[in-house]
Formats: sequence, structure tokens, C-alpha cells
Amino acid sequence: MEPQSARYPVVLTVAQQKGGVGKTTLARLLAVYASREDLLGKRVLLIDFDYQASLSKLSLNGMKVDDYGAEPPIHPEYDPEEDVEWNGRSSSADIFFDGFAVPYPVELPYPIENLQILPAHKAGLQRVEEQDRTKLREMVINRLHAFLSDEDVCDNFDLVIIDTGPKDSPLVRAAIRAATHMVIPLTMEAQCIDGLSEMLGLWRLELSARPQNRPLDMVGLVINHFDARYSTHNAYLSQLNSDERISPLLIDTILPRRAAVTDRDTKGTPAAVTFDLPRSMDIRARSLELCAKICSVLFPEEAERLKTLEPDDAYLLANRERKAGREASADESSVGVEAPTADAVDTGVQV
Ligand SMILES: Nc1ncnc2c1ncn2[C@@H]1O[C@H](COP(=O)(O)OP(=O)(O)OP(=O)(O)O)[C@@H](O)[C@H]1O
Ligand SMILES: [Mg+2]
Repeated sequence: MEPQSARYPVVLTVAQQKGGVGKTTLARLLAVYASREDLLGKRVLLIDFDYQASLSKLSLNGMKVDDYGAEPPIHPEYDPEEDVEWNGRSSSADIFFDGFAVPYPVELPYPIENLQILPAHKAGLQRVEEQDRTKLREMVINRLHAFLSDEDVCDNFDLVIIDTGPKDSPLVRAAIRAATHMVIPLTMEAQCIDGLSEMLGLWRLELSARPQNRPLDMVGLVINHFDARYSTHNAYLSQLNSDERISPLLIDTILPRRAAVTDRDTKGTPAAVTFDLPRSMDIRARSLELCAKICSVLFPEEAERLKTLEPDDAYLLANRERKAGREASADESSVGVEAPTADAVDTGVQV
């Protein structure tokens, strides 16, 4: 394994083999919190490694979904006259091939200057995982770390957040290999609790394979979908709290199950992040507290500031207005390929 370069972004991998526990919800929440100028204000790159492309659909307008799965839209900076070797689409699968890994500006729930995404492309990611077993280590598992070590990435991003799919796979191994930090969401269900030691096993396995100058910090286990009315939830929680290997890893801010989280992404409207919900909702305060705790581990120098950080309503309003303005001008335009927006961020990241 190549040594850790002097400069490397903070890389947080969100992993859990069990589906539907909140990996995507957490990845997105943290990305918005970490990038918004009124909050942590870091430059953040999201990477979607899940075939289902949930994170990409919640971040970009125009993700194309057909029988073959999801495909990213035409990139807003694509110029067919100039970019003759590029088809105008880019995805996280391009990290592994000699393609164009050009992150997109995130548009949803509203444009955020500091936030970009390398979206998922199902067919591309499947090709990545179909690599010959003998080539997997070199072509996939070590490749993401090499990509993130590139100076274009290091110059443009402070934090990379990787959302993974619901199974152990070469892409998950690559995301863990490249990570500086890991977070594991879980729910109080038998399958999830039973699979926890396997997840922690993946972390320990990776730790034992690494040189000491490249640590992998377990930020912790985030309990999500918690419902105190269920005796099973309470029973599993006390079981975890009394397990001396697990309790030190539990983050003590628990996310309750709240309809407001799901409502937003099932009604076809862009899901708000939970700290944009009304102040009266407990999920809002919990989400902010959770983000502050996790980001304090990622950026310890910010810990004091994060303790009291509150979203600025004026920021939210201004960004929603920007979004409405962009949508209105997109409606007026009948051109098939979107022109670059004035404030599109030049990433320069290509492979
Ligand atoms: N605290 C919560 N309360 C209610 N609904 C939630 C909560 N957290 C997440 N959800 C909803 O649960 C569903 C699954 O969440 P999410 O997609 O984040 O899980 P996931 O682990 O990424 O799933 P997958 O393994 O399929 O990728 C989503 O519809 C999401 O909106
Ligand atoms: Mg997901």
C-alpha cells in the first residue's frame, strides 16, 4: 500500500451492510452541514457508490432512471465542441476507469456553493465490481485512495463523504481503504445488531492492514429510526450499552423515527435536510447535535465553534431563492444541454 501523502482530505465512509438504516440520509445530512457557509463551511465532495443511486437522485436534478438503472445527467460544464473525448456524463465509476471523474454541483435540496457530488451510475459501478478477482485489489480496492490523493482533489476539497450500498462488496472495501474516518448507522433490529460485529470486523481488518501513519478512526455508531415506544428497541439499546466492546463506540445522540424525514423524499419533492425542518421538531435539534458531534471528530479544531452553531435562516432563504431562480431560467431555455451556471465551481478534477 502506498504511504499516506502529506496532504489528503478528511474522508468519511458511511457503511452498513444492512439496507434502509439511514446511510444515505446521514451522508447527505453531514454533507449539507459540513459545506453550508453558515455552518461548518468546508469544501465537500460526496461520492455515491450505491447502484440504487439514492444519494445522487436526492442531490441532482435529471438523474436518468431506466430499466438499466440510474445514469447521471449531462454535466453543466460540458461543452460538446470543446470536450470531444467526453460524452458529458460523469460518475463515481469513472474513478476506476480512464474516464472523466468530474464532480457535479449539488442542486438539491438547494444549491450549495461548497458541495459537489460524483453520482452513481449503475452500469458503470457493476463493471467496476466485475473486475477479475486478481485485479480487484489494484483496480478497485486501492484505486479510490490513489484518486483522493491526487492534488486536484486535495486542492479542491477538505472533506469527502462516501455513501455505500447495503452489502459487503469491493466498492465498500475501496471506500473503507480510502477512509480516514468511518461511521456506521444502525437500527434496533435483530438483523442489524447481529451484523454489527461483522461491520466492526471490516474496520478492524482494515486497521490491521494499514501502516501506522494512516489511521482509520471509528467516529462511532449512530442509532437511527429509534422508537422508544417499542420494547424491542429499548431492549436492544440496553444490550448495546452493556456490551463493553460496543458501548464506547455509540454516539450518544440518537435519531428518532419521524415521518417528516421520509415524507419529504416520497412525495416527489426534494427532501429537506432535517435541520431545515421547523424548530419545534425534535429531529431538527437532534440532527444538528449529531452533525456537530461527528464534525468535531473530523475537524477537532472546530469543536468549540460547532457546539453552538445554528443554521442561519437568511442563508436558507437566499439559497432557496437561487434555486427557484435557476428553475425559472431552466424552464425558459429549450436548449438540450444546460449551459454552465455563472457560479459553477471549477473543480478541475479529472482522471
Ligand atoms: N430517522 C428517520 N425517521 C424516519 N425515516 C427515516 C429516518 N432516517 C431515514 N429514514 C428514511 O428511511 C429510508 C431509508 O433511509 P436511507 O435511504 O438513508 O437508508 P440506507 O441505509 O441508505 O438504505 P440503503 O441500504 O437501501 O442504501 C428513507 O426513505 C429515509 O428517508
Ligand atoms: Mg442508501
